[in-house]
Amino acid sequence: MNATPEKTILVTGGAGFIGSNFCRYILEKYPAYRVVVLDALTYAGNLSTISDIQNHPNYNSRFVFYPGKIQDETVVSGIIKAENIDHIVNFAAESHNDRSILEPGSFIQTDVYGVFTLLDATKKYNLQRMVHISTDEVYGTIDEGQFTEKSPLEPNTPYSASKAGGEMQVRAHGITFNTPAVTTRCGNNFGPFQYPEKLIPFFVTRLIDNKKVPIYGSGQQVRDWVYVMDHCSGIDHVLHHGSIGEAYNIGSEGELTNMEITSRLLKHLGKPDTLIKYIPDPRGGAHDKRYSIDASKLTGLGWIHSYNFEQALEKTVQWYVDNQEWWREIVATEDYQVFVRRFYGKYLGEDL
Ligand code: NAD
Ligand code: TYD
Repeated sequence: MNATPEKTILVTGGAGFIGSNFCRYILEKYPAYRVVVLDALTYAGNLSTISDIQNHPNYNSRFVFYPGKIQDETVVSGIIKAENIDHIVNFAAESHNDRSILEPGSFIQTDVYGVFTLLDATKKYNLQRMVHISTDEVYGTIDEGQFTEKSPLEPNTPYSASKAGGEMQVRAHGITFNTPAVTTRCGNNFGPFQYPEKLIPFFVTRLIDNKKVPIYGSGQQVRDWVYVMDHCSGIDHVLHHGSIGEAYNIGSEGELTNMEITSRLLKHLGKPDTLIKYIPDPRGGAHDKRYSIDASKLTGLGWIHSYNFEQALEKTVQWYVDNQEWWREIVATEDYQVFVRRFYGKYLGEDL
């Protein structure tokens, strides 16, 4: 490509679930944009997740990958200068609540200090905008009604507390240094390329192999589910139309209990209820009961979600059926095996 790109976006965490889908979304929608990924390739980041992009004839000349950590100031500066970056969209994070119960320290490093490093670079190199991807989990749990952007941040797990800490860095940097940053808070995502430790891909991959799926406690916890491409279009909208210094909820009215999700997964895969195993809640008192998002601030700016939930869920299940090579390579890794044994061993016993 010879023409100057309209935007060159540094997508941090772009070898993970949502980041990689965002890269596909941007490269498809904006033929004049370049995407540069910085990713530490932790257990959750895999080159196999972005190999389709690197090999795509319409994308590969506008896509570059760098391995490295967002908290490494030298690496971040070097990429910004070498690639003429003008925007950052930060997906890089330790992102799993259950792992944050086992090992909270790495969450603080990436989700708080790493965000600070990117903000400092945004300021130092006069970038046009940094979009920081946060989560509805920073609000804590809500019995009735919905979280608005004005709801207090009351995180309950080491993961959500680290995400709230990152958001506080965004807020303070903006107020103190006029750093042009904006935050998004979305509900639970589902879709292709999600690491198979989160509820939907964990259950689908186990059910495909006729293994039991562990429901924590009663299974009556409610999550506000969003198809990943709707999340991507929401971030795109905030990137182009959001106001600096603001936070925006992203949601698509997808509230379901964990039991309701599980029933749909069993139905789509044609598997029996006997594969459900209720286990004592490993999250205990830190297990948020309900998330619910009011996205009217973003829809007021003209964003609408465009995917039908039931169709997107069915399509997602089918993706895992059709792409077994991708997830079987992951579930065979030592990291995955160790995590599943460590976290679920005492609950699943011989059903592990
Ligand atoms: P993920 O765990 O699939 O991917 C995270 C990516 O970040 C991985 O590729 C990993 O290698 C990379 N990474 C981790 N630490 C890094 C570091 N120090 N430096 C550079 N790269 C690093 O996560 P995801 O589900 O794609 O989530 C992406 C973002 O969206 C996270 O910030 C998460 O908090 C937020 N979010 C996720 C959901 C969800 O349901 N998954 C919902 C709302 C918000
Ligand atoms: P998860 O996908 O880990 O996302 P989050 O913790 O960010 O909401 O979990 C979604 C819900 O599913 C949550 O209420 C915990 C529950 N859950 C189970 O019941 N069993 C499981 O094996 C997993 C991974 C999650």
